[in-house]
Amino acid sequence: MSGRIAILTGGGDCPGLNPAIKGCVYGATHYGFECVGLLDGWKGLIEGNSIPLTREDTWDLILKGGTCLGTSRTNPYRKESGVAKCIANFESMGLEALVVMGGDDTLSVAMKLHAEHKIPVVGVPKTMDNDLSGTDYTFGFDTAVTVAVEALERLSDTGRSHHRIMILEVMGRHAGWVALFTAIAGGADYVCLPERKLDAEDMAKKLLKAYKRKKYATVVASEAVEVPEVIEEIHLHKHELDEFGHRILKERGVAEKIGALIEKKTGIETRSAVIGHIQRGGPPTLFDRMLSVRVGMKAAEFLSKKQYGVMTALKGENVVAVPLEAAVGRLKTVTKDWMEFADILL
Ligand code: F6P
Repeated sequence: MSGRIAILTGGGDCPGLNPAIKGCVYGATHYGFECVGLLDGWKGLIEGNSIPLTREDTWDLILKGGTCLGTSRTNPYRKESGVAKCIANFESMGLEALVVMGGDDTLSVAMKLHAEHKIPVVGVPKTMDNDLSGTDYTFGFDTAVTVAVEALERLSDTGRSHHRIMILEVMGRHAGWVALFTAIAGGADYVCLPERKLDAEDMAKKLLKAYKRKKYATVVASEAVEVPEVIEEIHLHKHELDEFGHRILKERGVAEKIGALIEKKTGIETRSAVIGHIQRGGPPTLFDRMLSVRVGMKAAEFLSKKQYGVMTALKGENVVAVPLEAAVGRLKTVTKDWMEFADILL
């Protein structure tokens, strides 16, 4: 045995976490490590809650959505003695290193614990938002978009039948990748992104043109879009923040507001639907299974080489080590090139 390592999953769950855990456990076992899983993200390290993880425990995780370890948005830096408890438990559990699977917030804690307290960490990037820098793609995104595209196709059927404009609101926090890919792949007529100010006149003009041609139209809206003309009766609870300081987007009001705006500008009956957490659940797609099991196993390889403070990034065809500093703190948002591409297509 080389020693004991722990795996944790933090932040929003997404399809691919379970296969990544399997990849990491199989890889770590291959290199002679014993594995444990910390429960509910950083909370598990603060409280010292863990379960054993063996090949037998994890063999079927390749098939499953969610995370068998549980997750939370706990930030040790925001809890009283949170960091001290993490360090104490890391030592008392006899851990040699941590594998931290998460997005920007979770990995920023890993980076700080490594930089400030020499905790040996390897990061595994995940987020359905696909907004993490330093890696080409994150697992979770492909499944989320696949589910959202199917939802848009279903909305298109009912919109076509009733001659309505249909809006689908998707997640993605402050990056519009999920909305953009859903709109392109699902054949939408308009996309509203958080990266670009919503132009109500342009939207109405394009929707009227599409509606004239086919007697229905579809729109994909990202949850974080700012709607210029606020419809009074629909409120967003703007002041609720999570432990990482992000607004909690739990009342999905954007699609309703945009719908009201479209009706006002076009006079066409408009309905909206919010896919919400449905796009975060369910079995991972082939792409997400393969990417996640690869990055999970790569993390074990880095552990075996004592290569810490890095994350397993996809660069082209390969999974490589990228310093955590290169990934955290700078959101990867939709670029101008992608917007121009979408504008020609939609
Ligand atoms: O970051 C992933 C994500 O799914 C975002 O797209 C979304 O805004 C957020 O998590 C929702 O978080 P929660 O499940 O905590 O409401």
